[in-house]
Amino acid sequence: MDALDLLLTRESALKLDAPAPSEADLDKMFQSAVRAPDHGRLRPWRFVVIEGDKRARLGDLMADAMRNRDPNVSEDMLVRERAKPLRAPTIVVAAARVQKGHRIPECEQIASAAAATQNIMLAAHALGYGAMWKTGEPAYDPTVKTALGLNADDEIMGFLYLGTNTGTGAPASRPAPRPAARDQVTVWAG
Ligand SMILES: Cc1cc2nc3c(=O)[nH]c(=O)nc-3n(C[C@H](O)[C@H](O)[C@H](O)COP(=O)(O)O)c2cc1C
Repeated sequence: MDALDLLLTRESALKLDAPAPSEADLDKMFQSAVRAPDHGRLRPWRFVVIEGDKRARLGDLMADAMRNRDPNVSEDMLVRERAKPLRAPTIVVAAARVQKGHRIPECEQIASAAAATQNIMLAAHALGYGAMWKTGEPAYDPTVKTALGLNADDEIMGFLYLGTNTGTGAPASRPAPRPAARDQVTVWAG
């Protein structure tokens, strides 16, 4: 795909199914990720791949964390939380390991991790996969982070749901309308 077509056609996949990205294709996604701009060569990027029956384990973990945050949460909510990771065949947790007090400001380290995360989204699209970037409360829950092998103070940028895009889903969740790009732009008059 032409690089500009890639950028101009990216959108989130609202329904994902098998086939999952192959190992070779995941590798290309991670190679794209580490092309992100990185002030000070801090390599703040961390990625955790979750596939197969480990997705159900992630669901358990997310439901346990939800119950810890709110012991009165309903069983319905727990069931829904547990099922979330099953919505895609592969999940990549993209995180930033931020060096506190470094001369490179923390926001720049996070910006680099966000750029790496978007590179995965774009590489997935280039390779013909669908992708959806999600966060929610689990992304900010230290018990989730440590269970995934991250540090409690790592920043989870997102849970990237990856697979084959199988449709646009319910009308209410059709792809987001695009703003007129120029509405976001001013030309500085000096
Ligand atoms: C950091 C970040 C976190 C997000 N978290 C969620 C989320 O938890 N749930 C959700 O439905 N969309 C989430 N989104 C938005 C979707 O990934 C997506 O961008 C949005 O639905 C618009 O669709 P589009 O990507 O086709 O423009 C998040 C986006 C970003 C950048």
